Amino acid sequence: MFPNHRFTDLPAYEQLRQHFETIKGRHLRDLFTEDSERFNRFSIQFEDLLVDFSKNRITAETLSLLCRLAEQAQLREAIDSMFAGGRINATEDRAVLHVALRNRSNTPVIVDGKDVMPEVNAVLDQMKSFCDRIGSGDWQGYTGKPITDLVNIGIGGSDLGPVMVTEALKPYGNPNLRVHYVSNVDGVHIYEALQRVNPETTLFMIASKTFTTQETMANAHTARQWFLDQAGDEAAVAKHFVAISTNRGAVEKFGIDPANMFGFWDWVGGRYSLWSAIGLSIACYIGFENFTELLDGGHAMDQHFRDTPLEQNLPVILAVLGIWYNNFFGAESHAILPYDQYLHRFAAYFQQGDMESNGKSVDRNGEPVTYQTGPIIWGEPGTNGQHAFYQLIHQGTKLIPCDFIAPANSQRPMGNHHQLLMSNFFAQTEALMNGKSYGEAEAELRKVGKSDEEIRFLTPFKVFSGNRPTNSILVKRVTPRTLGSLIALYEHKIFTQGVIWNIFSFDQWGVELGKQLANQILPELQASEPVNSHDSSTNGLINFYKQMKEA
Ligand code: F6P
Repeated sequence: MFPNHRFTDLPAYEQLRQHFETIKGRHLRDLFTEDSERFNRFSIQFEDLLVDFSKNRITAETLSLLCRLAEQAQLREAIDSMFAGGRINATEDRAVLHVALRNRSNTPVIVDGKDVMPEVNAVLDQMKSFCDRIGSGDWQGYTGKPITDLVNIGIGGSDLGPVMVTEALKPYGNPNLRVHYVSNVDGVHIYEALQRVNPETTLFMIASKTFTTQETMANAHTARQWFLDQAGDEAAVAKHFVAISTNRGAVEKFGIDPANMFGFWDWVGGRYSLWSAIGLSIACYIGFENFTELLDGGHAMDQHFRDTPLEQNLPVILAVLGIWYNNFFGAESHAILPYDQYLHRFAAYFQQGDMESNGKSVDRNGEPVTYQTGPIIWGEPGTNGQHAFYQLIHQGTKLIPCDFIAPANSQRPMGNHHQLLMSNFFAQTEALMNGKSYGEAEAELRKVGKSDEEIRFLTPFKVFSGNRPTNSILVKRVTPRTLGSLIALYEHKIFTQGVIWNIFSFDQWGVELGKQLANQILPELQASEPVNSHDSSTNGLINFYKQMKEA
C-alpha cells in the first residue's frame, strides 16, 4: 500500500508557511537582479526539452523546503510502489501502471504475481498489424475498398488523449487517412461526423474501458444503425467496427467480433490510457513506428522521474511549484498555454488528467481535507489567449501561475510566422515577471506627448504589478518522442501532487452522481405526465422542457 500522512502536519509544511512570510513580498525582478545565475540555477534540460522555472517566486531555500515536503510525504516510496505494481488506486483496489504500457526496456512488471509485459507486447503487436493493414489498404470495407476514414467513438480518457495527440502530431499523419472523434452524447456530434464519411470506406473504433458508458454506447449504436441502413448486411459489421475495451463480454454483446477487439487492463486509468490500445487511432494515423516513439518518449520521462533526485526531477519540480502557489499563495487555477497551434487540445487534455485526478476533498485516511487540493486547469494556445484572457493574468486580482510551452521549430514553417509567435512567447513571460512600474508608465505617456492631466489620469491603468509566476517549457520540435515525454511529465506532476496532498489520484467517484441521476431522470422525460419527484427547481426545469419539447 501507499505511504499515508497528513499534509499540513508534515514538518516542512510549517517551515514553508514561515518561509512564505519572507518570500511573499519579494519581487521576481529583484530576485533576478540579485542573482545573475538564476536562469542556470532554476532551469533543467531533459533531452531536447528545457524547463525554465526561474520565473517563479522562489529562492533556493524555497525549492529545498518544497522538496523536503515531497520527501516527508514519502514520494520516493510512492513512486516505487507505482512502478512495482502496488495497488495504489486503493478505492478501486487496482494497480496504476500506465508506465508499463510504455515500458520500452521491457523489464518485468509484476501484478498479482504475473509479469504483465507479455500481454502489453501482444496487444502492441496486434495494434501494429492492424495499423499496417489499414495503412497499406489491405484492410478493406464491405465493397472491397480501402479504409479512408476512422471514427473513434469514446469519451473522457477514451477520447481526449487520442484527439490531443493526433492533432499535435498532424504533420506525421497519413494523408490518405482522416480521423474523426465523436464523444458527446449530443446527437449533433455523431451527425456531423457521419455527414463527412462514406460507409464503404469508414471504420468505427468503439473505445471504452468499461463498454458501458452511456455516451459512447449511444453513439456506437447510432453509428451501427447508420452503417447497417446503408450496408444492409450484418456480416459487413466485422469489417467496419472494432472495439477497444477491457470488457470482452460487453463487446461481444454489442456485436463486435472478439477477434476485432483490442484489450487493455483495469490497471490502466481512463485518463492515462492513450498509451494503451485506446491509442489505436493515433497509431493508425501517425503510423505504428511513430506511436512507439511516443511510448519511448513517455518511457524516458518515466526513468527520469523514477531515478532522478527530487531537486532535479522535472515532474517533482513542477508539482511542488504548483503546491507552492496552490497552498501558500492561495492560487486557485493554473493555466497551460501552448504556443503551438497543433497543441490546441493540450490544456483540455490535462483538464481531465489533472482535475479528474486531484479534484478530491477527502484524504487517504477517509477524512475531509483542510487544505486546497487540485487547481482549476485551463488554457488555450497563444497568441489567441493573449487577445482573450491574458488581460486578467496581467492585471487582474488573481494570481494565475502559467506554463508556457513552445517548440523552437515549427512543424509548418511559414515565412516569419514562427518568429512572430516566439517573440510573443518570450515577451509574455518577461512582461508577467517584470510588470511596469508607475514611473515607467508615466515616462512612456510623457514620451508620447500626453499632458500632465492626461498622465495623472491614465498612469494607474498602465501600471503592471508583475511578479506573476510562469514556467517556460521549450522543446526543439514537437516530435512523437518529445510529446511522449511532455505528456508523461504532466502525468507524473499530477501523481506527485496527489501523493503530497495525501489524496487518491486514480479514482473518479465524483463523476458518478450526475450519471446516476441522469439515469433516473431519463424515464421521467419519456413519460407524458408532469414531474414532481425532485426539488422545485429541477421539477420546474424538467416540466418547462417537456412543455417546450416538440414531438
Ligand atoms: O468521466 C469518467 C470516466 O470514467 C473517465 O475516467 C473515463 O475516461 C471516461 O469516463 C470514459 O470511460 P470509458 O472508457 O469506460 O467509456
